Formats: sequence, C-alpha cells, structure tokens
Amino acid sequence: MSPILEIADLKRLAKRRVPKLFFDYADSGAYTESTYRANESDFYRIKLRQRVLVDMSGRSLETTMIGEKVKMPVALAPTGLTGMQHADGEMLAARAAEEFGVPFTLSTMSICSIEDVASVTTKPFWFQLYVMRDRDFVLNLIERAKAAKCSALVLTADLQILGQRHKDIRNGLSAPPKLTPKHLFQMATRPRWCWNMLKTDKRTFRNIHGHAKSVTDLASLNAWTTEQFDPQLSWKDVAWIKERWGGKLIIKGILDVEDAKMAAETGADAIVVSNHGGRQLDGAHSSIAMLPRIVDAVGDRIEVHLDGGIRSGQDVLKAVALGAKGTFIGRPFLYGLGAMGKPGVTRALEIIAKEMDVTMALCGKRRIAEIDESIIAENPFKG
Ligand code: FNR
Repeated sequence: MSPILEIADLKRLAKRRVPKLFFDYADSGAYTESTYRANESDFYRIKLRQRVLVDMSGRSLETTMIGEKVKMPVALAPTGLTGMQHADGEMLAARAAEEFGVPFTLSTMSICSIEDVASVTTKPFWFQLYVMRDRDFVLNLIERAKAAKCSALVLTADLQILGQRHKDIRNGLSAPPKLTPKHLFQMATRPRWCWNMLKTDKRTFRNIHGHAKSVTDLASLNAWTTEQFDPQLSWKDVAWIKERWGGKLIIKGILDVEDAKMAAETGADAIVVSNHGGRQLDGAHSSIAMLPRIVDAVGDRIEVHLDGGIRSGQDVLKAVALGAKGTFIGRPFLYGLGAMGKPGVTRALEIIAKEMDVTMALCGKRRIAEIDESIIAENPFKG
C-alpha cells in the first residue's frame, strides 16, 4: 500500500473500500457542485507569508473552542449516515476524536444514537440538532443530549429544505442498502466493508427511529424528513431551543453578514460560517470567502468558526488567520473512516496537525494565539 501522506490519499483508499453509493454520498455537492468545489479551491487563492530566522521552537497548536480545551482548532463536523462509511462509524470517530483531543459532533441523522456514542466515550461530545416540525421529537433529542452530558448543541440553520445531490439519486441511495443487483455488486466488491457491517446491529437511524418507528431506511427517512421540514422556522425558534437546551449553543450554517448579526443577537456562543459543505445552496460563496466579512461584522460579539473545504493544516491556519476561532472538518474524517475505520480518523487528524505545525513554523509563529492576518501575504476575500 502506498503511504498515507495527505487527506487525498485517504480519499483514494476510501473510494476503493466503501461501496460507491456511500462514497458518493460523502463526495457530493448540490446540483453543479460549484460551491462544493469553490470551498476547496478558494483556499488556494489565499497566500501565506514566509518568515525566516525567527525562533520556531516550543510550538503548540492547543487552544480553545467555546471555552473547551482542544489539541488543535479542528472539530469533527456532524455528518449524517456516518455509520454507512464504516460499521459503527459514529462511535469509532467519536473515540478517535476523544483520544486525539478534539470535539466530535454527532448528527441528528446519524446511524449510531446519542446513547451509543455516550457508551464509548468518557468526555462530553457535541450534538447537532435539526429542528423538525414535530417539536416533541426535538425536545426528546434535547433531553437525550442533556442526559448524555453533551457539552454543546450545534443547531443547523441551513437545511429547512434539502439540497439536491444528483449522485444520490443516480445511485438510488438507501440505508440500509437495498439489495438490488447493482447494489449487491457494489457490496460484493467491498468485502471488508460488508463483513464489518454484518457484525454490527447498528444499521438504521437510531436517533430518529427511537421516536419515529416508521423510519427504517433512507426512503422512509426521506419521506419523514420531507414531511417534517418546517417552512415557518425562524429566529424565534432559535430562542425557544436556546431556552430549552440551557447550555452552550452553536449556530451552524451562517453564510451572510445579516444572518451573522441575527445569530449574534440570540446570545449563542458561536456561529459556524458554513454552506453545509456545498450540499445546499449551489452557487453560493465558499465559506472561506465569506469569513472575513462575517468576522468584521460580529467577531467582537461571538466566536466565529468555519467549515467547508478544509483539506489540510494550511487551510486551518488560513481560516484561523482570517479570524476563525475554530474549524470543523467533514469529508476529511469521513474519508479516513471509510479507508481504515478508527485509525483512519486518527490519521486524518494527525495529517492535519502535522501540516499545521510545520506551516505555522514556516510562517514564523509558535502558538495559535499568535496567528493573525500578519501571516497572510495575499487575500482576495478581504472584509
Ligand atoms: C454533512 N453535513 C451535515 N451537517 C449537519 O449539520 N448535519 C448533518 O447531518 C450533515 N450531514 C452531512 C453528511 C455528509 C456526508 C457531509 C459531507 C456533510 C455538513 C457538515 O457538517 C459540514 O458542514 C461539511 O461537511 C463541511 O465541509 P467539508 O469539510 O466536508 O468540506
């Protein structure tokens, strides 16, 4: 096997090991995928400033996100169907994140449940909430997240309606997979994945199934969520959630200065500048392009985080330099999980940390607190 040196190596390996319909589910964006691509390519347009002959010894990537100590400013983003990249995926990723010392965020749309993840972790993780029309369901999730001692609620604001991903439709995506000849062929060529999947009893949406018994596969999940999307969802609901939750709140999916100001008004602890990894509004700006404007507008009032397109430690450093207190990665850890299970998630985190450390040194800095715009040589996305 060729060495795993960068996130792209994990992606290649995941493509070989995960059945096509689930690999494509991770590796897809909405419609033309222009925003998905821009999330990655816009990072290349920002240039770092090389400094030499400065003391680079005793470096550390440690910092805080919403007051929690982290080994580096990178959290695992909430991703639906993670347990289909690898059996027990959410539990494995949560363990890897805990051991590494970064936050793990469990999606409402996970395969493993809040309780499953709580049973294998010793430190608090974060829980991501989708606000559905059925407020009893929402309250039930909030209570379960509290009981599991989750230390933050990540409220996703950019999915009141589901963006269309062509690949999923073409692949006839379903979870658990339907045994059509095409899918059977895809499974048969991925024996390691099949074997692991057969060993686990966690193959349905356990957070949702606990409440909506009709949700047993992706088709019934789609029917349920389509019916459950609430077109009337508004900032008033955010206040309601905040009150019910009572703990730290992060609002995810902010891409506009006006929305960022509204979010800051709610008294949330942080926002995530995000376009859902290019999976929702195709044609929107990349997250990194919007970051400076949003930081300018609300950075003194609320912690600003970013996700979308981060594939290296250099990308994390650029986001931090432009004002992000922390970042989230989605696909990089999913590729690691699909490629190698838990060690693959650890590998993804190690790769990013190593790249970040070396890059920080070559920019002449030793601590995250020292990272600011002075390490940027050129930025086409100025606030
Ligand atoms: C997501 N994302 C997401 N976000 C969320 O709030 N709840 C969810 O259930 C999901 N599900 C999901 C599935 C998959 C396969 C992906 C790739 C993404 C969005 C995610 O949290 C994050 O915003 C992006 O993944 C960040 O972009 P990168 O790092 O994947 O480029």
